[in-house]
Amino acid sequence: MSTASQADPVLVLEGVSASYGPYRALFDVSFSVPAGAVVALVGANGAGKSTVARVASGLVPASAGRVLLRGHDVTRRRAFEIARMGLAHVTEGRSVFGSLTVEENLTLAFRRALGHGGVADALARAYEVFPRLGERRGQLAGTLSGGEQRMLALSRVLVLRQDVLVVDELSLGLAPVVVDEVYEALGTVRSGGTALVLIEQHVNRAFTIADGVVVLHKGRVAYDGDVAGAAARLDELVLGGPPAAAP
Ligand SMILES: Nc1ncnc2c1ncn2[C@@H]1O[C@H](COP(=O)(O)OP(=O)(O)OP(=O)(O)O)[C@@H](O)[C@H]1O
Ligand SMILES: [Mg+2]
Repeated sequence: MSTASQADPVLVLEGVSASYGPYRALFDVSFSVPAGAVVALVGANGAGKSTVARVASGLVPASAGRVLLRGHDVTRRRAFEIARMGLAHVTEGRSVFGSLTVEENLTLAFRRALGHGGVADALARAYEVFPRLGERRGQLAGTLSGGEQRMLALSRVLVLRQDVLVVDELSLGLAPVVVDEVYEALGTVRSGGTALVLIEQHVNRAFTIADGVVVLHKGRVAYDGDVAGAAARLDELVLGGPPAAAP
């Protein structure tokens, strides 16, 4: 865990570019996430939000620029190393093992991250945050509802007390009451001192807990500043804003 003060950034992207083959998805993306803060990362479909998450967590290499985690350059690190260094990434979609039970999914994740001795406590914490998962601990994850699968994906990482948690479209397709549960869980994560990067279609929802907002437009940062400033110009920023002047 970080010993840095709250003002120190826990995650920094510096001039990051990234491509998928010939397709350039990110252009010179820079922003930072203060320790313990919540940053909402928003933008139109295809703007590059998930790519930012993948570069930060080591799933996609940066072709230029640097990623710093608690001041350490992790640009060339592999995903599992970055995870061990304190960054967790809940990817888009239902990233659970469908043929394993809820409890087997959790046990696998917790054993890997915490060792055998940490599993029981972590399971208890996960079921405390998401009682519904406790009720369904013996059910195959593939037969959970969409919302329950997202909860499972989130609970695998949220009890690990990471420095940064990157969550990609966590509430996509979820019923409003389930979104409430998810946001309650995110609030718990945050109050444990974990910084959040929230990629979210429900922009207004994300803004309720965000300390800052980064708007991406066609792979570039169109805005990096406070919530009020982003909210006031959101349509312009998301749909075709000019590349960021200083906020
Ligand atoms: N594996 C890939 N191969 C080729 N192009 C990709 C790949 N993944 C993403 N892209 C392209 O990169 C661009 C950015 O994609 P990305 O997934 O980062 O967008 P996004 O902002 O997360 O969008 P959404 O809101 O739809 O999830 C898009 O144009 C997309 O088509
Ligand atoms: Mg995406």
